[in-house]
Amino acid sequence: MEILIRRMIHADLDEVMEIDPVAFGSHHWSRQSFTNELNNSGGVYFSAIDSVNRQLCGYTGFWLIGEEAHITTLAVHPDYRRRSVGERLLIHDIHMAVKVGARWMTLEVRVSNDAAQQLYYKYGFKSLGTRRKYYQDNNEDALVLWTENILDPVFQELLKQKIEELAVRENSASVQVAEEERATPQ
Ligand SMILES: CC(C)(COP(=O)(O)OP(=O)(O)OC[C@H]1O[C@@H](n2cnc3c(N)ncnc32)[C@H](O)[C@@H]1OP(=O)(O)O)[C@@H](O)C(=O)NCCC(=O)NCCS
Repeated sequence: MEILIRRMIHADLDEVMEIDPVAFGSHHWSRQSFTNELNNSGGVYFSAIDSVNRQLCGYTGFWLIGEEAHITTLAVHPDYRRRSVGERLLIHDIHMAVKVGARWMTLEVRVSNDAAQQLYYKYGFKSLGTRRKYYQDNNEDALVLWTENILDPVFQELLKQKIEELAVRENSASVQVAEEERATPQ
């Protein structure tokens, strides 16, 4: 499977809005929220596109706040799950976060969301606390995950290793990351 990751554009929102309610249930974002995010100069959003059928199969984004990249969303279409799309999107986020000057990455994740937690732990995120009743739909707590300094050689080595493992698994010569060189915040 060939996946292209590029900047999210307004024309992506029909497909994004097909995935978001499935991925996040009643807590999902509105189309207006995505529109606002695409117009927000501090937001950096990406779409994963299946190169064969041009379908949008996942998306992610973060806010750059000082030296922190705060991941605000990451979701994969149910038909594309467990095929490393989420992993590729996270790798892309990390690369872009480095590129735009972040030193740490953070996010909130539901305590019950084991799949997402495993993905983040795989890439060196650690739980540094809990936000009680953070999710208003069911009063669920959020774990607050953080990376170490993403510029640190130890973190960069972990990233390199994971990218190499992914490339071997996907039987591709390399995993293309940050291919969109223009993708810097406006
Ligand atoms: C979380 C999510 C983005 C993962 O996407 P995905 O493309 O299926 O994940 P990948 O195939 O790239 O998996 C990468 C790693 O994530 C973890 N993972 C993914 N799905 C998992 C599952 N169902 N159970 C356990 N671990 C899982 C594993 O560590 C996996 O690595 P492995 O293949 O070596 O075991 C996807 O399940 C999703 O969209 N969920 C709904 C939205 C959501 O919860 N987003 C996160 C908000 S914080």
